[in-house]
Amino acid sequence: MDSKMIKQLHCPLCGSRLEINRIIRKTDEDIEGAVVSCSCRKYPLLEGILILKSNKHLSHITKKLEEGNYTRALRSLIQSQGLANTHWISRSNPLLVNIVHRNLAGLRKLLSNYKTWRLIQNSDISFCALMRKLGWGEFGEYLINRFSDPTFWSIYPLLRVIKSRKLERVLDFGCGAGHLSFILSRAFPHVEVFNIDKSFVLLILAKRYFNDGGQYICMDFDDMGSLPFQDDYFFTVLCMDTFHYVSSKLSLANEFSRVLKSRGLTLIPHLHNALAKNISPGSPLTPAGYLKLFENSETRLFPEVNLLEEFLKKNKLDLNKKYSQERLNSAKAFVLVRSNSKVYKKYLDVDCEFLSLKSDLNINPIFEVKKANSQFILTKQDYEDKYSIVKKHVPSKLEISKEILNRIREKGRKKTSEEIQKLRRKFVLISVPRNYCSFHRQIQT
Ligand SMILES: C[S@@+](CC[C@H](N)C(=O)[O-])C[C@H]1O[C@@H](n2cnc3c(N)ncnc32)[C@H](O)[C@@H]1O
Repeated sequence: MDSKMIKQLHCPLCGSRLEINRIIRKTDEDIEGAVVSCSCRKYPLLEGILILKSNKHLSHITKKLEEGNYTRALRSLIQSQGLANTHWISRSNPLLVNIVHRNLAGLRKLLSNYKTWRLIQNSDISFCALMRKLGWGEFGEYLINRFSDPTFWSIYPLLRVIKSRKLERVLDFGCGAGHLSFILSRAFPHVEVFNIDKSFVLLILAKRYFNDGGQYICMDFDDMGSLPFQDDYFFTVLCMDTFHYVSSKLSLANEFSRVLKSRGLTLIPHLHNALAKNISPGSPLTPAGYLKLFENSETRLFPEVNLLEEFLKKNKLDLNKKYSQERLNSAKAFVLVRSNSKVYKKYLDVDCEFLSLKSDLNINPIFEVKKANSQFILTKQDYEDKYSIVKKHVPSKLEISKEILNRIREKGRKKTSEEIQKLRRKFVLISVPRNYCSFHRQIQT
């Protein structure tokens, strides 16, 4: 983050402008470490990420930074926050069992966070290899397979809608490890993407692996209650698979409206429905509940699965289609679209933006790859059980020639063959960041 950018932001708690107190570490373009202040408090900036949090531990981190001790401040922040979840034992257990379990969980969390700190310093390792080494279990697998996950795919036809609006600055709220930010940066290279998430470790990953050129702010919206941007700052606000995890939904919806230009676009892909079952629901609302939050401008909900089927089967996106209350009530998840301008129409040939993303291609990590003479045999793993749409759309087994794979690895490739585009449409080949996963390690001989 550079000093010009910091001065454009304000403190979400007192509203006064942020100023740089002391720069501890910087490169030619970026401030990597600094202490930033407003009228009410000081905030640390580490790894180029501005940390707008109000908890007590942060003053300890800021103090370390003020003493010029960058590495200790960073280590302390990662070790105190990490990612590991502590699973508290149920209330029905006797008190003593509870205490032992809490301490063991605390110890596990401490060790896991220490491991995170050690591994995260190794910048050569690929993203997938890092995920496996970190031992984050299911969450690590979720991050490795995020591009393969249909809960992510609705962004691809929506790129056309984003493109049809004036761009420049986009907010990716709840960006996680940065998969969406990567897609946005590759589809719209001149757009500045602002990434917010409450997890500092995920933001480090996002900046390192997915979108180095983005702006990063670490904050928990439920603690801070407002966003650090001036009114009418963004052309588009995106919030994928996150809104249902935020408790202060009305404040967040109001903040999205405030920071968005009057003719701007809000997109909330993969929004859970309170009327449907979900293994990790957060605190979702009913369709009526969501529409009420955004009632000051035209807002529509689309069942996610309908948008996906249309995209995958017919290569179109119909934002003009109205769904019955009954259909909305039975949908598992939605895509919410809010805009005052003319976005509610039919879009054709929507795979265009998706197929022209400028990035490396890799074999989708849900495939096991085996070499057989001049062919590679790809077999889909049991991933499909979770998602019937993957079962229908992505082939279970296929052979591809060595020549094709060599071609996708060629750097500076100008034209992509129809055969490769076909494999992209089927999500056999996916667009990934440069150091996502080692192509060679995926292949078993
Ligand atoms: C399921 S992940 C989705 C990440 C990303 N948008 C994607 O689709 O790949 C939800 C993210 O929301 C973030 N999050 C949840 N509640 C938040 C809050 N109150 N403030 C900021 N971020 C929050 C979490 O840290 C997590 O990274």
